[in-house]
Amino acid sequence: MMWLKYSVLFHLVLCLPLTLARTDTRLITQGATIAKPNCQRSCGNLTVPYPFGVGIETGCSFGRGFNVNCNTSFNPPRPFINSGNMEIIDITDGTMSVKNWVARRCYGPDGLRNYTMSINVTGTPLTFSDSNRFTIVGCDDFALIQASSPRNFSSGCVAMCSNISDVIEGECTGIGCCQIEIPRGLQNFETRLLTLSSHQTVSSFSPCGYAFLGDYDSFDFTIANLDDPSFMQTVTDQVPVILDWGIGSQNCSEAKRSNDYACQQNSYCVDLADTGRGGYRCNCSQGFQGNPYLSPGCTDINECQNNPCDAHATCINTPGGYICSCAKGYVGDGEGDGHRCIAKNSEFPVLKFALGMSFGFLGIIIAATWLYFGIKSRKLMKLREKFFQQNGGLLLKQQLSSNEVSMKSTKIFTAQELEKATNNYAEDRILGRGGYGTVYKGLLTDPQQIVAIKKSRVMDQNQIEQFINEVIILTQVNHRNVVKLLGCCLETEVPLLVYEYVSNGTLFHHIHNSGGMPWFSWDNRIRIAIESASALSYLHSSAAMPVIHRDVKSPNILLDEYYNAKISDFGASRLVPIDQTQVSTLVQGTLGYLDPEYFHTGQLTDKSDVYSFGVVLAELMTGRKPLSNTKTDDEKSLSTFFLMSLKTNRLFQILDPRVRREGSLEQLQAVAELIKRCLKLHSEERPTMKEVVMELEGLRKFSNHPWILQPEVEEEVVGLMNEEEATDLYTVTISPPASTGPYTMQHTGTSPLIHAINSPR
Ligand SMILES: *[C@@H]1O[C@H](CO)[C@@H](O)[C@H](O)[C@H]1NC(C)=O
Ligand SMILES: *[C@@H]1O[C@H](CO)[C@@H](O)[C@H](O)[C@H]1NC(C)=O
Ligand SMILES: *[C@@H]1O[C@H](CO)[C@@H](O)[C@H](O)[C@H]1NC(C)=O
Repeated sequence: MMWLKYSVLFHLVLCLPLTLARTDTRLITQGATIAKPNCQRSCGNLTVPYPFGVGIETGCSFGRGFNVNCNTSFNPPRPFINSGNMEIIDITDGTMSVKNWVARRCYGPDGLRNYTMSINVTGTPLTFSDSNRFTIVGCDDFALIQASSPRNFSSGCVAMCSNISDVIEGECTGIGCCQIEIPRGLQNFETRLLTLSSHQTVSSFSPCGYAFLGDYDSFDFTIANLDDPSFMQTVTDQVPVILDWGIGSQNCSEAKRSNDYACQQNSYCVDLADTGRGGYRCNCSQGFQGNPYLSPGCTDINECQNNPCDAHATCINTPGGYICSCAKGYVGDGEGDGHRCIAKNSEFPVLKFALGMSFGFLGIIIAATWLYFGIKSRKLMKLREKFFQQNGGLLLKQQLSSNEVSMKSTKIFTAQELEKATNNYAEDRILGRGGYGTVYKGLLTDPQQIVAIKKSRVMDQNQIEQFINEVIILTQVNHRNVVKLLGCCLETEVPLLVYEYVSNGTLFHHIHNSGGMPWFSWDNRIRIAIESASALSYLHSSAAMPVIHRDVKSPNILLDEYYNAKISDFGASRLVPIDQTQVSTLVQGTLGYLDPEYFHTGQLTDKSDVYSFGVVLAELMTGRKPLSNTKTDDEKSLSTFFLMSLKTNRLFQILDPRVRREGSLEQLQAVAELIKRCLKLHSEERPTMKEVVMELEGLRKFSNHPWILQPEVEEEVVGLMNEEEATDLYTVTISPPASTGPYTMQHTGTSPLIHAINSPR
């Protein structure tokens, strides 16, 4: 089935206003609830969103690490991190910017003036973002940056020039200015600013050397910086340090199991392995807004407020989206842009016709219509009975009536209800067409709900069988990773199936069209693999009668708004009587995913699904399509290509770059080995789906990402949240010279941890 097309379409229609909003990184401060009840929402000009909270002992923050000390002795009051001396400038959904500090060495007639600088945020939820650069400005200077938490890091940069005319305006490339990146995840650093010949030959145009860490986008080097006496102040005021923040050090799946999981309703969890410190953040789900950390969570956005629909349409707000419903006499999807509700051009003749009609004629028409529908419905009923008997309909009836649970959960819809929901199966409601029929987007009004409605092609015996089959199987299955069947409608010539609507498209789409999306990390790929595998394992073993899916492929794995996997399309599936392990069937499936053994023998076992799943897994890991038209014969089929690459030790060349970067060597090798076993030619050598799940689960446990915090540090963070420790955790240290020269520091915070580091002369 082609859910692909429909998901893209649906995204465009439903998510346009949202996509625009997403580019804003301060959604957390824009909802109705920003801070805990009875807590200050701001300090001076800064809005302080929970998990941050104003006050040291007020209980307004998520934990000690998120305290904001609002110092009211300034006017307006100024916010500082905890009890340290770092002043907060801005807090966004994932970062915090703080006022900067600069190291400087000046060489003047009255000798050397020297300031060093270090910043330390260990034991906090903050790390230095990689949008910072370590920058040196000067013509005879080099500087070192050294960090020890959570890892040892030291690097440096040299800024030289012999003549002011050599310096290039706006370019920080080593002449008068030098810049380097720092790794993500660091929590402390110190700087040492050194010189080769004490600016002797360059002091006329570059009397000082400077070093600082700061936001790359906020600093543009200019030649004038070299002898600007207020350069230090300019950087302090205009180039903030960017810090990433997150909750705890557990990843999402660990955090979800713990009892202080921070994400509230209508939000989803985002792993922060990328920022190098572990932990997670919460984001509002699509179509919701507010502060995802505060109870009751994100609230629905009323898109209808901005009236996104056409003038002839009514906008209906739904949880997480909206629908434009055309007024009577109009067709179209009612979307404000591009598609419109267009008047049906039949009004005029109908009116005339009706006025001119005599009662007798009317009577004849009514009688004829009545007769026609009578015959038609008799025919229909007969047809339906025939279909029922021929295609397991009796079995379906029996299933529905014998199984009380499915009887209750499977609703029987009327044809009228579904016609209304799909605007009479309008072209523009088509979400996708597949081998077995067409899928429509539908809006049920009571209760309001978006659904996907599947209609088979008219009068095709074969397809009706598929449908009945799917009903039987899905009414038996209840698993969170299997798409839910809400009900069916048997009143029409072709049966209609009504499913829960899964909003985020197919896995195929995400692998091949948007592999670069931030959420599509190694962890999430493995999670999706586990979810799909456990659904299949459940189908193979736990259901009352085992089910073989027969068409496992990435286009049949749908993703919901939280990117949970849901297996769909059971049109080809087979129930297997418990005392049998294999059944003979007509070979069915999709090339590229099809088990070669089954293809040759026609003997279907649950291991055929294992093979197909192996191909999906290979697809997830390599980002390649199962069949490629452009490659040479050897590379045409992904399974062959994958096995060949393993054999020739080229696994790492073929993996998706993101997978290669985020998975550890052991994990990658283990997955590759698992794929290899799934793709074995002989089905007995393949693992069962249950074993696949267990191996994938095992893999997820030993996640050892290079930037995840060391355990000791994790403990420190925990201690911190418990408020057991009482040291100042946020410190910036500055060492002014012993003599108070013309250079006085504007920041004079003194907390117990502050220590001076003197650079050698
Ligand atoms: C704070 O707000 C005032 C008035 O709105 C403005 O003049 C001032 O520049 C702001 N200060 C900062 C640091 O943004
Ligand atoms: C506020 O700032 C002033 C001046 O820097 C300092 O003396 C005072 O201790 C600070 N107050 C608090 C509560 O941090
Ligand atoms: C950093 O290096 C020092 C000595 O070179 C060592 O004692 C320390 O354990 C290292 N720290 C880390 C986090 O590896």
